[in-house]
Parts: sequence; C-alpha cells; structure tokens
Amino acid sequence: MKERVFSGIQPTGTPHLGNYLGAIAQWEKLQKTHDCHFCLVDLHAITMPWEAETLRENILQSAACLLACGIEPGKLYVQSSLHAHARLGWLFNCVVRLGWLNRMTQFKDKAGKNREKHSAGLYTYPSLMAADILTFKATRIPVGDDQRQHIELANDIAQKFNHDLGKEYKEKTGRDFFPTIEALIPAQAARVMSLRDGTKKMSKSDPSDQSRILLTDSADLIATKIKKAKTDPHPIPETVAELTERPEAKNLLSLYTVLDKDGSLEKTLNAFSGKGFGDFKSALADLMVEKLAPISNKTNELLSDKEELRKTLKLGAEEARKVAEPIVSEAEALAGLGF
Ligand code: TYM
Repeated sequence: MKERVFSGIQPTGTPHLGNYLGAIAQWEKLQKTHDCHFCLVDLHAITMPWEAETLRENILQSAACLLACGIEPGKLYVQSSLHAHARLGWLFNCVVRLGWLNRMTQFKDKAGKNREKHSAGLYTYPSLMAADILTFKATRIPVGDDQRQHIELANDIAQKFNHDLGKEYKEKTGRDFFPTIEALIPAQAARVMSLRDGTKKMSKSDPSDQSRILLTDSADLIATKIKKAKTDPHPIPETVAELTERPEAKNLLSLYTVLDKDGSLEKTLNAFSGKGFGDFKSALADLMVEKLAPISNKTNELLSDKEELRKTLKLGAEEARKVAEPIVSEAEALAGLGF
C-alpha cells in the first residue's frame, strides 16, 4: 500500500513563490509515488476577517493555479465540501488542551497585541489542521518550515486521542487508531523570505505587493520586483559562511539555487562571487520567468472555464470522501458519538 500524503493551502489569494517552493513543488513530486490528497482550506481561511465573494473567487483562482502547477485532478478539493473536517475538528477541540494551543507561535504572530478581537477560530486553527490530516490517517505532510509546530501539535492530539479513547481499538487490532505524522520539509526553500525584509517570511498577508512573487505575475512584474528587492551594498561573497549576517542576499541567492536545476548554494556563489547584485538580479529574474510563465499561462487558461474547474474540485472531493468519511465515523464511534 502506498503511504498517504495530505497537505493544504489557504485560498486567500494567488499562491506565491514561498508556497510553491515550500509546499506545492513537493506535492507535485509526491503524487507520483504516494496516495495524495490536497486541500484548499477555506475553513481555515475564514479564521481571519473575510468577504464571501472574494473567498469564492480565491478558491477558483487557487484551484486553477495548483492544477497549473501540475497537481492532478482527483487529488485536489475544497475543505468545506467534506463535512469530515468540521466533525473531527470539533472532536479535536475537545481533545486538545488550552495550554497546548497557548504555545502556538502562529496564533501569537497573527493575533499580535489585539488577541481579544480575533475569532475563536483563529485560536483553534491548529486542531482543525490536525483533523485535516488525521481524517485521512495521513502520515507524510509536505509543508514549509512555518507549519512545523502545528504538525507537532497534531501528533500530540493523535496520541491523546489514542490514549484516552483508542485503548479498545488497540487491544483488538494491535495498532494505534491514529498514526504518527511526519512533516516533510524541503532541504532548500523551506522558508522563502520577503523581498523587502530578509528577516520576515514571504507571506500573502504582507501589506506590500513588492514583498512577494505571485505565481501569476507577468514577466515584467517579476523583473521589477526582483530589481527592487532589498539587498546590501557588498558584492556577492565566495563562501556560504559569509552570508550569515546578510539575510536578503542569502534569500535571493537561495532562490536562484532552487530554481536552477541541479543547483547548490556553492555553485551559485561560484558563478556570481565578486559581482554586484545588478547582473545577478537580472539572471534571477530570467530564471524565475522561465519557471513561472508556463504556470501563469496555464492558470489563465483554466480560469476561462469555471464550470470545468468546479467539476474537477467535485471529483477531488469524491475521492477524498471515500477515505475520510469512514475514518471520522469510526473516530466518533470510539468517542461514544454517532448514536
Ligand atoms: P498556507 O496557506 O499559509 O501555506 C501553504 C503552504 O505554503 C508554505 N509556505 C511557505 N513555504 C516556504 N516559504 C514561505 N515563505 C512560505 N509561506 C507559506 C506553508 O508552510 C504551507 O505548507 N495551515 C496551513 C494550511 C493547512 C495545512 C493543513 C497544511 C491547513 N490544514 C494540513 C498541511 C496539513 C497554512 O496556512 O498554509
């Protein structure tokens, strides 16, 4: 049996280069060897203020973009079309401890000083994320580095469920009900940084459009954003060690490295050391355009037939439902629910 992979992305706008290199590129590879389900997590998207019409559009836009990246139809669906997520999410809200949620750095970052004004959904976000994964009993989760803590929490929730409610199941089968989960975090580009500030991650919620490259950006826009990307006055160094205190330089050189087939940071430094950032930036922009132009073109093509996109997402939901529904029903039965 193939190992099961699950991952998700919030449909809060067009995916950016960080999403692509941290997660989507891994998804595209894994679907060839693993049993994969990929999810547009609209229930997570509404944990921050939202507008219904914009969300509807963003779901289709994100779906088109993911399919354009090579995600196969039948493997992609929308979270709210499967009730299993919300059902197991609620059960996990009653398993997770407040103390565990209090440790989540993403909540602290997103809520900032204004904790009281945020939705309860933002606070319990990680237990819904655990439910996403465990409703498939998925064991491999390809994500960027920022999701590491959430995956650890999902393991804690799984263990507590197994311990509190899964004893009989274990006696009967010799196995734990929920498996142990492993985050698959890429060796390179696990945390792509903002183009305006090399100490902040590239993010959809950054107020500056210049801070990120969207997968649908035109060649001109990519060239402009890279040209304006923050750097420092020093030339490109010879060794990786010399990049330690130069976050912006390191980010751009790392981006070149991952986009360059067979690249390594040493090889990139060899090619550009001693030069200023001008030549390097134009080489980087060219490489990015080469990689992203086909994705952008395909996204627009797919968006021209929204009915077909909806059909593709329904197909993905049917495939996902076959796996997820029986697992959630069994988890509910173990918990004494589902009379
Ligand atoms: P989201 O929508 O913020 O991001 C989607 C994926 O992109 C990765 N990512 C990055 N990787 C590298 N550099 C960056 N700057 C960068 N920004 C984002 C994220 O790590 C993620 O893998 N909570 C998740 C969605 C989710 C999920 C799940 C993921 C919901 N349920 C279950 C895995 C399993 C999120 O907000 O991703």
